[in-house]
Amino acid sequence: MRKNIVAGNWKMNNDLDASIELVHELILATDNIEIGYTRIVVAPTFVNLQKIREIAEGSRIEVAAQNMHQESNGAFTGEVSAEMLQNIGINDVILGHSERRLYYNETDKMLAKKASKAIGNNMNIIFCFGELLEDRKSENHFSVVENQLKNGLFHLTAKELGFVVLAYEPVWAIGTGETASPEQAQEMHAFIRSLLSSKYGKEIAEEVSILYGGSVKPSNAKEIFSKPDVDGGLIGGAALKADDFLAIVKTF
Ligand code: 13P
Repeated sequence: MRKNIVAGNWKMNNDLDASIELVHELILATDNIEIGYTRIVVAPTFVNLQKIREIAEGSRIEVAAQNMHQESNGAFTGEVSAEMLQNIGINDVILGHSERRLYYNETDKMLAKKASKAIGNNMNIIFCFGELLEDRKSENHFSVVENQLKNGLFHLTAKELGFVVLAYEPVWAIGTGETASPEQAQEMHAFIRSLLSSKYGKEIAEEVSILYGGSVKPSNAKEIFSKPDVDGGLIGGAALKADDFLAIVKTF
C-alpha cells in the first residue's frame, strides 16, 4: 500500500540554530503521537543537512536534500553530487522543484538525468512538476504536466519507479496563499495516476505516492489530503513553524 507523506521543503530558510531548534521540536512531538504509516520528511539547506540528519537519527523524521547534480564529481562549482549526499547519510532528494526550473533553468532533459543518477545510487526522489498560471488559464495544464512527466521521468523502468514519490505543485499556488481546490488537486492527481497506469500498469500506478504542494496550511490540509489520489503534501512556508507543520502531519 502506498505511503502517506508530509514533507517540509525549508528552501533557503533556517540557519543552523533555527534548523536544530525546529528539528528538535518535530522529533519531540512525533515521538508521542500516533501517526501510523505517515512518513515525515524535512529538507534543510545543504550546509545543515549533515547536522540535522545526525540529530534526526532514530527518530520519525527523515531528512532529504533539496537538489543534487547529475554528475558524480568534476568542475561544477557550487554543485553537490548524489555520492556526496550519500556519504553523509542522505538517501532522499527533491528534484525538479519549480524554483529550480524557473530560476536555474533546470530542464526536463536535465531532470531525467538527475532522476537516473539518484536512483542509480539507490536514492529516493521526490519529483516535482506543475503548470504555470498561464498554462492553467489557457487550459493547457494537463498537457504541460504530461510532458513534464514523460520527458523527465518516464524513461525509468518500473523497478526504478519504486524509488519515486511525485509532487504536483502548480506554480501559481506556491507561496501565493492561493491553493488548488481539493477538487482541482484530485482531478490532476487522478490524471497523473492514469498516466502512470498507461505507462507502467495499474498495479504499479497504485503504489506511487502523489503529493500536493502549494500553500498547504493546517486549515486546508485535511480537505486536500482527504481526496483519494492525494497521498500527502510538500509544504513550504507552513513547514517552517513546528506547530503548523505538526498540525498538517496530524491531519492523517
Ligand atoms: P508553499 O507551501 O510556501 O506554497 O510552498 C510550496 C512548495 O514549494 C513546497 O516545495
